Amino acid sequence: MINDLTSIEPGLDNVVAAETRLCLVDGAAGRLVLRGHDLADLADWSFEAVLGLLWEDLAPAPTTGGDIRKALGAARRTVFARTEALLPATDTLSPVEALRLLLSSLADAEDTPHHVLAVAATPVFAAAIARRRAGKAPLEPDASLGHAHDFLRMLHGKTPAPDHVRALNAYLVTVADHGLNASTFAARVISSTQAGLLSAVVGGLCALKGPLHGGAPGPVLDMLDAIGDEAGIRPWIEAALANGERLMGFGHRIYRVRDPRADVLKGVVGTLRDGGTRIVFAEAVEAEALAQLARKKPLRPLETNVEFFTALVLEALGIPRDSFTNIFAIGRMAGWTAHVLEQEKLGRLIRPQSRYVGPMPGVQTLAV
Ligand code: ACO
Repeated sequence: MINDLTSIEPGLDNVVAAETRLCLVDGAAGRLVLRGHDLADLADWSFEAVLGLLWEDLAPAPTTGGDIRKALGAARRTVFARTEALLPATDTLSPVEALRLLLSSLADAEDTPHHVLAVAATPVFAAAIARRRAGKAPLEPDASLGHAHDFLRMLHGKTPAPDHVRALNAYLVTVADHGLNASTFAARVISSTQAGLLSAVVGGLCALKGPLHGGAPGPVLDMLDAIGDEAGIRPWIEAALANGERLMGFGHRIYRVRDPRADVLKGVVGTLRDGGTRIVFAEAVEAEALAQLARKKPLRPLETNVEFFTALVLEALGIPRDSFTNIFAIGRMAGWTAHVLEQEKLGRLIRPQSRYVGPMPGVQTLAV
């Protein structure tokens, strides 16, 4: 029989589509493990060291944190040399569309190893895009600096405070990899056709862009602004849920308990609090949202996800709201590149099937 496919999972909810040595996302326990290390134990690692962990035995050198830092610094400078000429083409685009365009400009013929190039290019492009939108010229990378430090310097045009560098580094590590999320799956599918790593990570970015994935943290701040003050919290959330809206920063396809990344980032926000009231207000919104979600969806555990506290971290670092997805991409580029390298080693085309439910030739359907 043609197309005899009886079981179907429209969102591939419980489908296991790959075997990986990179990352375990345990949704029942709320646990995230990267190559044998719990997320909480990686929070003090440099982003470069986490890249070394992920790339180890998948790519030739560099694989140690120090060598990766040098290779990224050199590659940031290579990328910067042609960035300025590309920027005018981004003027009518949103920041994430602009990043999509600039990443697409990287050629398969580039000499720099493509996983290094992709990771190095993202902060150079993201900083240049944000500055251009503010009417400022892009700033040259400093190859001697770490990835998080140099990005903040290129963005703000001054030496960042050490606690800001630590916070951004911790954020990049926290979002570095997360199993077969939509963007990583997209990247692996593209890679499986042998299209090349650079094309695969552009596809990853395209998937990240959506509000159900990496586009949520900007809207989290929009939500906090719309709520306004403590008195507005309960009625605003009640009205949003009554309208069938989704509360940004809550819910997850895999986690049935609290997203472990949320707590790591909540700790990071605490280090940046500066005596401000934002975190206190956000915690009050979180508590009310969780209470109302539990009442409205008693059978579907909906907890805080990574994007809620991401929004507060990035806001405290002075990053423009419309650039948040690009900052997510700087971190997730680690996971995309590692998964693509792993997929390339596997060498198996990803090609699932669909169940045909359309008409067959010669079989009439009655017009209603
Ligand atoms: N607010 C209100 N209701 C929600 C939310 C939410 N944030 N999330 C899920 N629900 C509801 C759905 O409306 C649905 O209700 P229904 O059964 O009455 O239709 C039910 O819970 C189940 O939702 P699903 O769509 O099956 O959940 P899914 O696993 O597909 O969604 C997702 C996961 C996309 C993250 C969802 O929770 C959501 O839209 N959250 C808000 C956006 C967000 O925070 N995105 C960032 C995710 S983290 C990341 O990607 C890095």
